[in-house]
Amino acid sequence: MKQHDLIVIGAGPAGYTGAIRAAQLGMDVACIEKENALGGTCLRVGCIPSKALLESSELFAEASHGFKRHGIDVGEVKLDLPKMLKQKQRTVDALTKGVGSLFTKNEITRYTGQAKLNGSGQILLDAADGEQELKAKHILIATGSKPAKLPGIECDTDRIGTSADALSYDEVPERLVVIGAGYIGLEIGTIWRRLGSQVTVLEYLDRILPGMDTELAEEACKIFKKQGLQFRFNSQVTGARVAGDRCVVECEEADPIECDRVLVAVGRVPNTEGLNLQSVGVTTDKGGRVSVDERYQTSASGLYAVGDVIRGPQLAHKAADEAVACVEQISDVGGKVNYDAIPGVVYTNPEIASVGQSENALQHAGIEYRKGKFPFLPNGRARALAQTEGFIKILADAVTDRVLGVQIIGPRAGELIAEAVIAIEMGATSEDIARCSHAHPTLSEVYKDASLAVTGRAVNI
Ligand code: NAI
Repeated sequence: MKQHDLIVIGAGPAGYTGAIRAAQLGMDVACIEKENALGGTCLRVGCIPSKALLESSELFAEASHGFKRHGIDVGEVKLDLPKMLKQKQRTVDALTKGVGSLFTKNEITRYTGQAKLNGSGQILLDAADGEQELKAKHILIATGSKPAKLPGIECDTDRIGTSADALSYDEVPERLVVIGAGYIGLEIGTIWRRLGSQVTVLEYLDRILPGMDTELAEEACKIFKKQGLQFRFNSQVTGARVAGDRCVVECEEADPIECDRVLVAVGRVPNTEGLNLQSVGVTTDKGGRVSVDERYQTSASGLYAVGDVIRGPQLAHKAADEAVACVEQISDVGGKVNYDAIPGVVYTNPEIASVGQSENALQHAGIEYRKGKFPFLPNGRARALAQTEGFIKILADAVTDRVLGVQIIGPRAGELIAEAVIAIEMGATSEDIARCSHAHPTLSEVYKDASLAVTGRAVNI
């Protein structure tokens, strides 16, 4: 029976990052992945392919409507969807192969197959060439999540499907219905809107992006509506079916909607199916999550879990950070994740990014705060980019001035948020940010002005 110091189950951002860090720390590491390609949902069918299509579709939209503003006339712009999908696949292939190279470089043993726990420290690997028993001192579950299902909806992975299907449509749907106005619904909805679809988003709640700062979400919704996305709030979808060459989506208390394709994006659920957790006495909570302590250890000794399969936001970087902290703690190096400083980014245009507390959360917790808000409109760089929508908002503790939360909607918000993450991680005050030199002309000057606005000293307005 083969034996390793650590066996990681799952080769997504959590699994492969944790495996590499453990190998750096001198462990004999193996990683089991059921798919042939490494990288998990994020690299294969999630974050990376969606970002590839978001970039390509944005270029298409810019070439169609935006270039003229800059005095560039490219004539009639035509979409070559098969080529766009090939570019997406090239991006995915390069990155998944890259993970393979990192495994080789770090001497990580790779097993392809389904892992099943088989009692303490033991795994049964179901591979194409048969079953194999493996042993490990430590086992790390990093099996991620899968799309949540809605009762009444039968996904046929063609006309009615999840995000993975919607990133591979072979033609632009004339009418696309998106169920759920969360991260996935908005990102993928905007891809197809830019490529010409009429997109209707059905959302159970009365707002988009539940959990995010309300002011931020309201601004985003206004902008998306201008871009042509249609929203139907307070719409609980109760069913969807294929009817001939169309789909019919049914909502409670509203007329059914006809469309060509349906994207179901109503959240993701932890992936624990087939792991045989009961063989080691580990149970899951109501949401299907594995419970862990602050060292990411489950109730079974030597068995750990990180990422989407445990509590917290389902974000690739959170998962990877947890995996590093977990294996560092196993090695007594003492890794830790600061959950107050995990950014969230929605890669629409403009991008939406936040870190720390939202204004609603501060109000709800009764924490006194001061707010500095500054728009992109007067910023020189934003003007030159012709992308002036949005703002940056900084929330600082009313007594200590420590930055508690930052919300951004605007050009390159996903990059700009990094400065805010560092501020929160280092315990900076809004005054610290205001006193830092920010290059001119850059979008980051909006961040400086927002921090000055906390004490009513913004200059450029
Ligand atoms: P989500 O939880 O963000 O949004 C799901 C939405 O569906 C909610 O607004 C919910 O109210 C709505 N909904 C639920 N049931 C409904 C029904 N019957 N009818 C109508 N609406 C209904 O989930 P989403 O967008 O599927 O994303 C899953 C996870 O993936 C998120 O937690 C997110 O963190 C992660 N993700 C992150 C990305 C990023 O970092 N850029 C990109 C994509 C996903």
